[in-house]
This record gives sequence, structure tokens and C-alpha cells, in this order.
Amino acid sequence: MLASGRGSNLQALIDAQEEGRLPARILAVISDRSDALALTRARRHGISIYTLDPQEYPGREAFDAALLKLIQSLEGVRYIALAGFMRILTPVVIRAFPGRIINIHPSLLPAFPGLQAQRQALEYGVRYSGCTVHLVDEGMDTGPIIDQRVVPVFPQDTEEELARRILAEEHKLYPEALALLAHGKVKVMGRRVVIEGRNP
Ligand code: GRF
Repeated sequence: MLASGRGSNLQALIDAQEEGRLPARILAVISDRSDALALTRARRHGISIYTLDPQEYPGREAFDAALLKLIQSLEGVRYIALAGFMRILTPVVIRAFPGRIINIHPSLLPAFPGLQAQRQALEYGVRYSGCTVHLVDEGMDTGPIIDQRVVPVFPQDTEEELARRILAEEHKLYPEALALLAHGKVKVMGRRVVIEGRNP
């Protein structure tokens, strides 16, 4: 997993794994920030942690080349899951793991990609927002959508309140979506993703 910050989604995945709801093992957590709470959470659960400091690399490609080398040195990596990883991956990594990099985003994509998705939703005045688990392609939050959850937006909401409401759904959606992937139930057909057993 790649994470830069708080790591609450990582924690939801660790909990799911420990409770037998995620038929996959989190092999390692890699961060671009040595102070990421995500690393502390991983360490507490005996998961290997690594930090790569962007300042030690001349640019994004060089950082990603080092990141890829590190990932490839780990045994048995099938998927790369991003959870609050605050860097845009370059094709260096994306092309090495086609269709095997997953991200969670706090809006109903394609609405409100990029940073501060919850604030964007409030400012736009939508009645509903939510969260999206999607495959990562070379665009910004543009990859095929695996699954989404809808969350209401109330007129008096602050950004924090909306973010909290969406985050609660993220914590359910991400483990469920990754479990579907791990079970081989996700079929990607171009932009469209079919989940076996759903809406037959
Ligand atoms: C989440 O809102 C996620 O959707 C976005 O970044 C945030 C990460 O939160 N990509 P956390 O670090 O998992 O708590």
C-alpha cells in the first residue's frame, strides 16, 4: 500500500484483513513521508514499512523508478493500493502494473477529481457526493470505476462534516472492493467494470 498521511483507510483494510473479510495480505506500506501516521499503524500490526524521501530524487520519474524498484523487490505483490498517497504516479509505475493499481477518492467520480474533493462538492452545491474506488490510469482520478457509495450532502454541512460522513463510507467500500478484486470477481471491459454476481 502507498500512503502519505493519517492512514485511516489503511487501518480499515488492516481490520478487514485481521477479521477475515479481506482475502489478501498487506505486504508492505510505503510512504513518501517518514512522519505518516499510516506507517505507525502498519508497524503496530507487524506490516513492513518503507519511506522514500522525494527530496532525494531529481524528479517525479526518478522517484517513481526507485518506488518501482522497491515494489518489485517485495515478494508476491499482486496489487498496489493507494490510500491518501499524495503524489501522482507517473507511467513509470503505472505501466509496470497495468490494471493492478487501485485508488480511493472522496467523491463520486468523474465529479470533483483532484484535491479537496469534499470542498469542491460543497462549493458546487450538489445534494449527494460519496466515494469511488477506481483503477489508476495515467490521468488524474480517471481510471475505470470499480465501485461507489453515495453520501448525502446537507445544506449546513461544513467541509469537515462532509469529509467525515464520506470517510465512514470509504472505510466500508475499500475493503469490500479489494475483496472483490482478490476473489477475481472484477472484470474490466474498457472503461466499464463488471462485478460478477452483481445485478445479473
Ligand atoms: C481519503 O479521503 C481518501 O479518499 C483520499 O485521501 C484520504 C486519505 O485518508 N484519497 P486516510 O489517510 O486513509 O485517512
